[in-house]
Amino acid sequence: MTGSTTLPAVEVDLATVLAGVPFPNPVFTASGCAAAGRELGQFFDVEELGAVVTKSILLAPRAGRPTPRMAETPSGMLNSIGLQGPGIDAFLDRDLPWLAGRGARAVVSIAGTRVEDYAQLAARLRGQPGLALLEVNISCPNVEDRGAVFACDPAAAAAVVAAVRRTAPPGVPVFVKLSPDVTDIVDVARACVEAGADGLSMVNTLLGMAIDTTTMRPVLAGVTGGLSGPAIRPVALRCVWQVHAALPCVPILGMGGIRTGLDALEFLLAGASAVSVGTAIFGDPNAPLRVLAELRGALAERGISRVTDIVGRAHRPPLPADPGGPEPPGATDPDTEAT
Ligand SMILES: Cc1cc2nc3c(=O)[nH]c(=O)nc-3n(C[C@H](O)[C@H](O)[C@H](O)COP(=O)(O)O)c2cc1C
Repeated sequence: MTGSTTLPAVEVDLATVLAGVPFPNPVFTASGCAAAGRELGQFFDVEELGAVVTKSILLAPRAGRPTPRMAETPSGMLNSIGLQGPGIDAFLDRDLPWLAGRGARAVVSIAGTRVEDYAQLAARLRGQPGLALLEVNISCPNVEDRGAVFACDPAAAAAVVAAVRRTAPPGVPVFVKLSPDVTDIVDVARACVEAGADGLSMVNTLLGMAIDTTTMRPVLAGVTGGLSGPAIRPVALRCVWQVHAALPCVPILGMGGIRTGLDALEFLLAGASAVSVGTAIFGDPNAPLRVLAELRGALAERGISRVTDIVGRAHRPPLPADPGGPEPPGATDPDTEAT
């Protein structure tokens, strides 16, 4: 006898709900990082994921930006793919039926350069099989407003949401994907919710660039690109935290640099009800399933039997079992933002 006791393993209920839609678990892919899921099909059964979030689809096929359009950066990567894709017709013919045929839940991401593009895309999704949620990617230039990115202006973001709301398939919640490249993400979040968004996806990539010191020119042909991966995780987490604090009833799909189950747990604790894994897939196609297994283990270790119990937990005071524990950072100190 060693005297050590083995605690019974905690069964963890991973089921989560986003705007009334049930998902068997809270780990999804991130838009643009696994096309429409087919590529992942050779590694695992995509229906094992909470959902597959498809690459943002436009009305017409698009070739994307010139190459090079990917660059490695410390703890992250830059991409300027430029929404390459087959267009909505091919997507509805080929991709969505493939996901539905496998019993996978599809979160379909739409994008456009005019408010009307979004309305038309949402209308095309009416009556489509396997559609769990609509994710509206508003990190696109608005050609009707000198290329200003919709996501960076609360009024422009709200206009897109209102247009999608009018035409979206009945019963399919509309999530809006926010950009972290704004002064106050809560302003944009609030404008989207007031315009009819059922939930928020956070965050898209941050605008960045890299310069090749040999050629002395920008690395990406498009000069700037979206920064993703672990480098952006603290920023993404801060966005989820701030929006959940301001709008606690609005469901959040969190993302940005999630590579492990503990990373995912951080987002849930900050207020996300589910998470997307993006850049990690490029290095390890099994990453979403691994993150799910690690999350299950992390919850079991902490004696948490339902994933929904820990959504937003970091906003609440320390557990009673730890009465002498420190106040949560930011709970009382108004100067936490000072550097
Ligand atoms: C190569 C690449 C393509 C992406 N394409 C899209 C896209 O089509 N639509 C979208 O909303 N987000 C797109 N994203 C952003 C991701 O969905 C995600 O929000 C972001 O990369 C942060 O998560 P991550 O660090 O886990 O990748 C893309 C990201 C990458 C790296």
